[in-house]
Amino acid sequence: MSTINISIERAKESGVGNIDFNDLPFGKNFSDHMFIADYYDGEWRDARIVPFADFTLHPATSAIHYGQAIFEGMKAELAPDGQPIVFRPLKNWNRLNKSAQRMAIPPISQELFMAALDTLIDIDKDFIPTAPLSSLYIRPFMFATEKYVGIRVAENYRFCIFTSPVGAYYSRPVRVFVSDKYVRAAPGGAGFAKAAGNYGAAMMPTWEVQKMGYDQLLWLDAIEHKYFQEIGTMNVFFVIDGVLITPGLDQGTILEGVTRDSLIQLAQDEGYVVQERDVSVDEVIHAYNDGKLQDMFGAGTAAVVSYIGGFHYKGVDYELPPVEKREVSNKLRARLMDIKSGLVVDKFNWVHHVPVTQSV
Ligand code: COI
Repeated sequence: MSTINISIERAKESGVGNIDFNDLPFGKNFSDHMFIADYYDGEWRDARIVPFADFTLHPATSAIHYGQAIFEGMKAELAPDGQPIVFRPLKNWNRLNKSAQRMAIPPISQELFMAALDTLIDIDKDFIPTAPLSSLYIRPFMFATEKYVGIRVAENYRFCIFTSPVGAYYSRPVRVFVSDKYVRAAPGGAGFAKAAGNYGAAMMPTWEVQKMGYDQLLWLDAIEHKYFQEIGTMNVFFVIDGVLITPGLDQGTILEGVTRDSLIQLAQDEGYVVQERDVSVDEVIHAYNDGKLQDMFGAGTAAVVSYIGGFHYKGVDYELPPVEKREVSNKLRARLMDIKSGLVVDKFNWVHHVPVTQSV
């Protein structure tokens, strides 16, 4: 039983009737409530659920200027018995605190994180969509709220969670551009953190390739421009001659994806050979030319498992096999989605059941 005290102010009217649950673009609809806690005098305080609304920010709010801002992404679905379930929330709590540590933001306790999550999902469970490929996207985030223009670690922060009913992030296979011009992260940097600045710095390079007809950038390492890192919206996997390969976490330059970790475990469980290691552009192009590059896909909370339709490198477009021929990604995607929806036995103990207590 949680000892966290969360005050609750209910929305006067629900907006659930205004949402078209048969057409859910990613991130444009919001549930009725949000969770907020503020950090001051050395502690997270004033835990509360309030109606979803704008924040009022002082122009000198430190996060806007100096970027102490981090976030997470999780998903909730309704199990067949109607109970809300969240996929591996403790992994996200853990990663939030790793990001917080890197950005000098105070950590949050597991108890507060889980109590906030459970209470919010319970109150807004009517916003959990049930159509295939849809879910309630959960966005926890923290940012420095101190009103101070000097550069130093801030003394005040806000932790907020809001939720958003969503459909698929990518509705078709993604085309990626392998960048040898821009870099996302270097060893010793903050690439592993889910820090707002990592996404902000990727906007212009991504936009540049989008104008050329690609969906995303596939980043290479910052030193040799030779080894794959990640896609920014998702981690990347390759299947070469039956072996599943994904860049390792050892350099601290890629996000420690929860979906990435889950797919590695599922693939091992399916009996595939899985390698977490450096994988170079040369290796992948050689495999492609030898007919051994069988699959390429991205993995992320929003993206789930997204097929990569093709990639571009140094003026050449490489086309991947049609989606129906992708044995590995199809198998892993189906198993992951079944677990996340509570449709199969959760042998990994990944699914968190949200206690349902609130009634309107
Ligand atoms: C997520 O997958 O949760 C992310 O934060 C990535 C973004 C594409 C929404």
